[in-house]
Amino acid sequence: MSGSPRFPIADLANVHLMVPDLTKATQFYVDVWGLVEAARLRGVVYLRGSGRDPYLVALHEGDHAAVISVGLRADQRADLAGLRDRVEAAGARVEPIGPVTDFGGGQGFAFRDRGNRRFTIVQGDELLAPLDAALTPRRLAHVNINTADVEAELDFYQRGLGFEITDRTNIMSFVRTNDDHHVVVLATDTIDTLNHIAFLQDDLESVMRASGRMVDAGYPVAWGPGRHGPGDNVFNYFIDPFGFVIEHTAEILKVDDSYRVGGPADWVWPPGRTDQWGVGHIKGDACKKAQRAIPFIQA
Ligand SMILES: [Fe+2]
Repeated sequence: MSGSPRFPIADLANVHLMVPDLTKATQFYVDVWGLVEAARLRGVVYLRGSGRDPYLVALHEGDHAAVISVGLRADQRADLAGLRDRVEAAGARVEPIGPVTDFGGGQGFAFRDRGNRRFTIVQGDELLAPLDAALTPRRLAHVNINTADVEAELDFYQRGLGFEITDRTNIMSFVRTNDDHHVVVLATDTIDTLNHIAFLQDDLESVMRASGRMVDAGYPVAWGPGRHGPGDNVFNYFIDPFGFVIEHTAEILKVDDSYRVGGPADWVWPPGRTDQWGVGHIKGDACKKAQRAIPFIQA
């Protein structure tokens, strides 16, 4: 019987974003995007979804839009030391393991990858009771990161973090660390910036209804609705008030180690198509530009 290996990273936990207007950002992510305020600590606003994560997005006020860090969750406490050794051996600059001061707490450490991007790994953070909140994203689905060296990046995710490759297209490389087809996507580019952040809704209906709420609030669909090739997930992309590209998604393909890893030849669209349905808004230049524009805060 096929199954999955035990991954030392269990899931994608959170993103910390710097925004130029904390009040406006909080209003947008609560009233329009559907997250729920969980806590405010030391000027940081922690926004949760309907699932058990203490928070999905932490908003920090700053002078421009940027990613401060991407947070992963280790499967077991005993995995932390091994992960720290692994990421360091794979080329990351690591910080010591210690108590996590963000909402939810736990133990963990931070590291900077080859692109000087900050990642955190937490374990033992206090999980919350799920919310019965329609159209509130359940959890983060994936982050998509532009990389100037995709081969080095893929090596790092495998050797450093224990991820596995599930698919590669001409531009995108998909890696997993649980039974979701992908948790991180690496976009081949010439710069090391954020491409987009995807939030998991319960189903297609929720994606569409949450998308309608965005349209009602004056945020047009940037790409979609559609169904992706790799991962088979439904999607709708938007641009937030500060230029972050954000995605409502659902129905991500569940895979195990019997999944046949696909290559570029497996994922060729007919002319004019960029998804399985071919009915949604085609991605315009504004979205393509936004998908390269958000930097990570450098050390
Ligand atoms: Fe995505």
